Amino acid sequence: MATAVLGMQWGDEGKGKITHLLAENADLVVRFNGGPNAGHTVIDRGVKFGTHQMPAGAFYAGARCVLAGGMVIDVAVLREEYDKIAQHMGEEPELVIAENAHLIMPYHRILEELEGSGEAIGTTRRGIGPAYRDKAARVGIRAVDLLDRERLEEKIEARLRLLRENWPEAGAIASLSAASIADDLLNAGQPFISVIGDAAGTVQAAMARGEEVLFEGAQGALLDLDYGSYPYVTSSSTTFAGLANSIGIGALEVKRRIGVTKAYTTRVGAGSFPTELSGKLGERLQQAGAEFGVTTGRPRRCGWLDLVALRHAARLNAPTELAITKLDILTGMKEIRVCHSYRLDGREIMSLPASSEEFGACEPIYESVAGWSEDITVVRRYEDLPHAAREYLAVIAHALDVPIFLVSVGPSPEETILTGFDRD
Ligand code: GDP
Ligand code: IMO
Ligand code: MG
Repeated sequence: MATAVLGMQWGDEGKGKITHLLAENADLVVRFNGGPNAGHTVIDRGVKFGTHQMPAGAFYAGARCVLAGGMVIDVAVLREEYDKIAQHMGEEPELVIAENAHLIMPYHRILEELEGSGEAIGTTRRGIGPAYRDKAARVGIRAVDLLDRERLEEKIEARLRLLRENWPEAGAIASLSAASIADDLLNAGQPFISVIGDAAGTVQAAMARGEEVLFEGAQGALLDLDYGSYPYVTSSSTTFAGLANSIGIGALEVKRRIGVTKAYTTRVGAGSFPTELSGKLGERLQQAGAEFGVTTGRPRRCGWLDLVALRHAARLNAPTELAITKLDILTGMKEIRVCHSYRLDGREIMSLPASSEEFGACEPIYESVAGWSEDITVVRRYEDLPHAAREYLAVIAHALDVPIFLVSVGPSPEETILTGFDRD
């Protein structure tokens, strides 16, 4: 069976924990979008990892990992992560890297600084936007280019020539040399050269054999380039809608789609956030939830659950089931608020406006539900959750019309409740 794990908010929903849990039974785990902008927390046998490009399958001996064609790969960052996981596991993870995946080059990070998108969008400054732009402009360097040193250097030199013309004053660009970029790439990428290949074919074959294939999404639906809160989005497709193309498979075979959502909302970086809590409550969520970015360490903005945004995400991700994380962080709140619609220009609206100005003007309309005070981190059976917690979960499942299969009540794998929802 093929299963997708997809973010339903602005990223950091806990995809790492859920993918790591499910990867135990997977034959193949595939990361399909983004690059080292992602930071997925995995706690493997008590050791905490922030993974950026390696799929969670790397934590199980015998599982194979795929970096799909929709990704942009930073080879040096990948090498560091690969070595760290290999050391933890006592063996090198089995990896296939898509030959058509694009590479993040040193000049992509420099461009991000020169153009100021780090500041304006609040990006992770990992060169993501410029790398995807080079892909769209058809001047990108791809994994397959690592296989021929001479051609690689020629392609880099051609790109550098254009950059020098466009940025004549930029010292950081002037000092780049194609030969040394190629050297650095091939040094860091040395263990990967032999595994660059037909990743789409690998995934297609595994699916045809009926293997357990797990797709690990990065970011979340509201950060999707096409359907997120543009322009405050990332530069890739983050949703189920984009998954098939990013991997090179037919979408119809992906029967199980798990939408991961926190029990509240967070966002890191710029852009509107209708349910954001700026005062004490927001601080409380940030502290209790340890809401600081895995990749950049930035504090995450926090707020109430936004069902308008979640319904939008559900239309894009078509989840067959939900995983609700961080329910424990809401413990102790007398009253919990949920936004079910927005008010815009005196009208009540039920869906996300496409214009960022209108989205910025949306005010949340809330309903309140009762909170609970019992420690739920020790609960392992759905029926042992406090009544109010179950009521809260029911509000979410009902609003999205999607059943909940898992509730997470702590960061560790064992702090997990399977609801007993039966897919068949
Ligand atoms: P991802 O990017 O979607 O994988 O999420 P991140 O790893 O960036 O952020 C989720 C954070 O919440 C991590 O620090 C996790 O260890 C933590 N986490 C995940 N699930 C739970 C949970 O149920 N309760 C608590 N308290 N923390 C959780
Ligand atoms: P995971 O996979 C949260 C956000 C950035 C910024 C915007 C664009 O851990 O959920 P980029 O560097 O991609 O050009 O930044 O997207 N962003 C994330 N926010 N979690 C992520 O990944 C993110 N990846 C990108 O903060 O607002
Ligand atoms: Mg994250």
